[in-house]
Amino acid sequence: MALLTVDRVSKSFAGNRVLHEVSFDVRAGEVLALVGENGAGKSTVLSLITGMQAPDAGELRLDGEPLRAWSPLRARAAGISSVHQELSLNPHQTVAENVFLGQWPARRGLVLGRDLARRARPLLERVGLDVDPRTRAGRLSLGQQQLVELAKALVCAPRLLILDEATSALDDDQVQAVFRVVRELRAAGSSVVTVSHRMAELFAISDRLTVLKDGAVMATRDRAGTDHDDIVRLMIGRELSDLFPAKAAPTKAATAPALRARGLTVPGGCAGVDLELTPGRILGLGGLQGQGQRAVLRALFGLARHGGEIELAGRPAKLSSPREAIRARIAYVPEDRKVEGLHVAQSVRANLALTNLDTVAPARRLTTVDRNAEAGLVADLIDRMRIKAASPSQEARRLSGGNQQKVALARWLPSEPRVLLLAEPTRGIDVGTKREIYHLLRRLADDGVAVLVTSGDTMELVGLCDEVAVMYEGAVVERLAGGDLTEERLVRASVNPAVTHA
Ligand SMILES: Nc1ncnc2c1ncn2[C@@H]1O[C@H](COP(=O)(O)OP(=O)(O)OP(=O)(O)O)[C@@H](O)[C@H]1O
Ligand SMILES: [Mg+2]
Repeated sequence: MALLTVDRVSKSFAGNRVLHEVSFDVRAGEVLALVGENGAGKSTVLSLITGMQAPDAGELRLDGEPLRAWSPLRARAAGISSVHQELSLNPHQTVAENVFLGQWPARRGLVLGRDLARRARPLLERVGLDVDPRTRAGRLSLGQQQLVELAKALVCAPRLLILDEATSALDDDQVQAVFRVVRELRAAGSSVVTVSHRMAELFAISDRLTVLKDGAVMATRDRAGTDHDDIVRLMIGRELSDLFPAKAAPTKAATAPALRARGLTVPGGCAGVDLELTPGRILGLGGLQGQGQRAVLRALFGLARHGGEIELAGRPAKLSSPREAIRARIAYVPEDRKVEGLHVAQSVRANLALTNLDTVAPARRLTTVDRNAEAGLVADLIDRMRIKAASPSQEARRLSGGNQQKVALARWLPSEPRVLLLAEPTRGIDVGTKREIYHLLRRLADDGVAVLVTSGDTMELVGLCDEVAVMYEGAVVERLAGGDLTEERLVRASVNPAVTHA
């Protein structure tokens, strides 16, 4: 029998229909993947299951019993745990406190920090997280925070675990840790519903896949009876060819670098990194998560105090603030769009126009912003990046996760950067749009932009980049290009740099 049944469920927001008679069920002891483009309605369905929102029509049943007056509290009491797409940790509390938030093991009404830490350890171990439970959550990388969220979801030994993009900030090693947890749960008879835009992961872990498109179920397939192309076709309604564009011709390497860094060092981040960013080429920064990739990007955008020498187009340069970086036509798409990349409380229009004042207000006088030029620019960006918004005045926080990411990237395009720094540019982005972003980055490179990209997705680095510098403990330990740039070489260099030459 089904553990959970979603029966002809519909949901609208302000007259905008997001789910239309969605039906599927989750069997006991299975892993079901929910797949679909950005804005297809995946997170919305999950929010109905976890009691965060109520359906307008239709019914959900758990063990055959209709869910009535459903709420997050009741969902948890019924053994439904979830890891949300947006992180929810309190950065000022410790990892242990976050894990047990709302479910503290209190003794005589008193919670002992030591006690919490001791209890958190086995959970952290289970999710493969090697951090001190007394560390403040805000000090962890995004990926580590995602794993803390998972540990938190495991406290109550769930019958149904919901993972919404729970691996989006994880590197390969960490993904394996999540898979171990999922397999353990399944073996114990629990069920898992998972959402991810990393198709390879879905095929590795799920038993069945349900495809949503524009808020409706297109099909549910057994994994054995389907393949990548079939699912993509159902998702986007067409074939998807050439996920990755052709790479730069090797002759282009002769171009003078747009940016050269020698001995780039950020205390606590990276040490002695040499890099050359060349017009026409896409350089990747690989390696396990948190090996200094972020420090390199932040230093080059003037966000992190750094030592070492930087040259821009052959001239010594100082990049001590983002203002200087922007003036040098360096653009940066950060990893955490909510903190650095987006103004979530503002409209899509405002976000797309903010960095683009040159285009919409040539005199740099805000009062004279040319509304027509702005509207045209915004419409063009929404169209080019296929941003799914109810209207340009929709608040950015009301967009689906992937569409927020698209806005964070799109807002830099009109400024015509010379150097483009991107952290995890396709995190949470659907496969059709991923293809567009890859081709867009290649077109920008062809037009003379020097691109530097970090990614935890090995396939993406191999498919997209002309060269990948692998980082380990703050240093570049290997450079792979041409025939040497394979997933296997990249993974080996990342986990154990010492043996890559063996
Ligand atoms: N609270 C809300 N108010 C208005 N619109 C909303 C709200 N929540 C979701 N939407 C809209 O519903 C649609 C579906 O969003 P949802 O978050 O379910 O998509 P998704 O499939 O999870 O996409 P992604 O892969 O990008 O996370 C989007 O167009 C989004 O803008
Ligand atoms: Mg979502």
